[in-house]
Amino acid sequence: MEALKFVWGLKGLIWYNGVVVMIMMIIIVNINGSVEASHKVYREYQSLPPPLELNHIHRTGFHFQPKHHWINDPNGPMYYQGIYHLFYQYNPKGAVWGNIVWAHSVSTDMINWKSLDLAIYPSKLFDQYGCWSGSSTILPGNKPVILYTGIIDKNNTQVQNYAVPANYSDPYLQEWIKPNNNPLVFPGIGINKTEFRDPTTAWWDKDGHWRILVGSKRKGRGMVYLFRSRDFLKWIKAQHPLHSKAKTGMWECPDFYPVSMDSAFGLETSAIEGNIKHVLKVSLDETRFEYYTIGTYFLEKDRYVPDNTSIDGWNGLRYDYGNFYASKTFFDASKNRRILLGWSNESDTPTEDVKKGWAGIQTIPRKVWLDTSGKQLVQWPIEELETLRREEVHLSDHKLNLGDYVEIKGITAIQADVEVIFSFPSLDKAEPLDPSWVHMDAQTLCSHKGSTVQGGVGPFGLLTLASKHLEQYTPIFFTVFKATNKHVVLMCSDATSSSLKKEVYKPSYASFVDADLTHKKLSLRSLIDHSVVESFGAQGKTCITSRVYPSRAVLMDAHLYAFNNGTETITIENLNAWSLANPQMN
Ligand code: FRU
Repeated sequence: MEALKFVWGLKGLIWYNGVVVMIMMIIIVNINGSVEASHKVYREYQSLPPPLELNHIHRTGFHFQPKHHWINDPNGPMYYQGIYHLFYQYNPKGAVWGNIVWAHSVSTDMINWKSLDLAIYPSKLFDQYGCWSGSSTILPGNKPVILYTGIIDKNNTQVQNYAVPANYSDPYLQEWIKPNNNPLVFPGIGINKTEFRDPTTAWWDKDGHWRILVGSKRKGRGMVYLFRSRDFLKWIKAQHPLHSKAKTGMWECPDFYPVSMDSAFGLETSAIEGNIKHVLKVSLDETRFEYYTIGTYFLEKDRYVPDNTSIDGWNGLRYDYGNFYASKTFFDASKNRRILLGWSNESDTPTEDVKKGWAGIQTIPRKVWLDTSGKQLVQWPIEELETLRREEVHLSDHKLNLGDYVEIKGITAIQADVEVIFSFPSLDKAEPLDPSWVHMDAQTLCSHKGSTVQGGVGPFGLLTLASKHLEQYTPIFFTVFKATNKHVVLMCSDATSSSLKKEVYKPSYASFVDADLTHKKLSLRSLIDHSVVESFGAQGKTCITSRVYPSRAVLMDAHLYAFNNGTETITIENLNAWSLANPQMN
């Protein structure tokens, strides 16, 4: 026991001591490349033609990606005249970050995508060194406008620019104009000019002002500057940031929007009346994770105050506890919902990315709304994804005793959508949660426990992307622990055994789930797509995305199982799984 505590203590130390992690990152980065605006820079790979054959075994089927090359953040998503628009950070010349422009794809369902010409690329003095992330706003009269960060010199000085469609009657918005009165916003006195980027969608208030946020940091304090404008052209910085937090580092890609306390419908970004809360999400450059808080926006004072149930800092709530970053939401007026998109980076090496000829995907668009508890958000893949469902298998009332596995046959396990509800007769066998573990982060606990160590109630769940003899697999699973006066659910998506390759980053992503155990049931949905598993626990209360690169569980050799390694018998109450077809993908 002492030895165990020591191992956990050591991992906890490393996890909590961000400085140690950062120093390690800096050392690693200095060996392999340099860092620019949070992205590693591999100059030798930045402009290389892709290989002729792009149908690599790990290429995803139904996740968004362009034909080839590097992508990162989703930019300016919007719905306009019956068409969904997705712009994204793109390197038109290579499979690593660099030469950054806004690429553009359009869709009528956010599942089938058609790629258009580049929308915004360096062509003027105010963006000659890069067109970085930003957002779109629909102005009165249904007039979209894009705000983005322009890089104006070799030192990475950042300004905020705008672009407007050349032709509003073109629903595809194929051509964008960058007027000559750009930039709209310079980093003023006191602002760190290389840490000033990623303008949000603007919101409007009765006082006649538009407002936007721009991410930044000052002396290690992450913050979002607030700017106001009457005409969308002349922007004045508010005296104080809308919100900031010490020791959180640079806040990239902020997102700020209202959510309804009464329904799962989305709200337009300027909505301020009624029973609402606000969400502020920031992407933390130093941890490469995001967090959000739920709180109140005091418009008269232009202050945002997170609720005391939301942790404001590195350990805050996340949309996704896995490989998911630089996300952005938009209000979809056609279905009154708010949609979330996020970037999932490769976990393989840059040399492999160059060989593949592509890197990065966008996660499946998710509907996002406030949980009835008012304490967290809930997410679910958009219903349009279901149009890709083909062969279906069904299993119900199937018991899994300690050590049991059942194979889910009859679908293409490499590209699938699986929904399952597990139940257990009682929680009596739940393993006690050592009080010292509660303060341990979920990921450390998950990596110690794993899916194969025998527990009480769990570990149970799905084994995705599994090879026939289980040499390789990515388990997504739950374990229920007994804490002092309640039960605690741990959800894990564990890449440790996903492949044999040592160079691949294979974390055991995890989170505690605020699940209601009254009915002794837990649900799980996993979207499996060659090198990504996107999972939604407890009806979307906890989401985890993992990137994995199996060598054996590929194409028709991939298998899917349900398993239980706990002493309590688990019943698969209901399982539905579908093969998913390939949509049109750029
Ligand atoms: C986030 C980010 C943004 C920046 C963009 C550059 O991944 O670093 O802050 O605008 O990527 O590509």
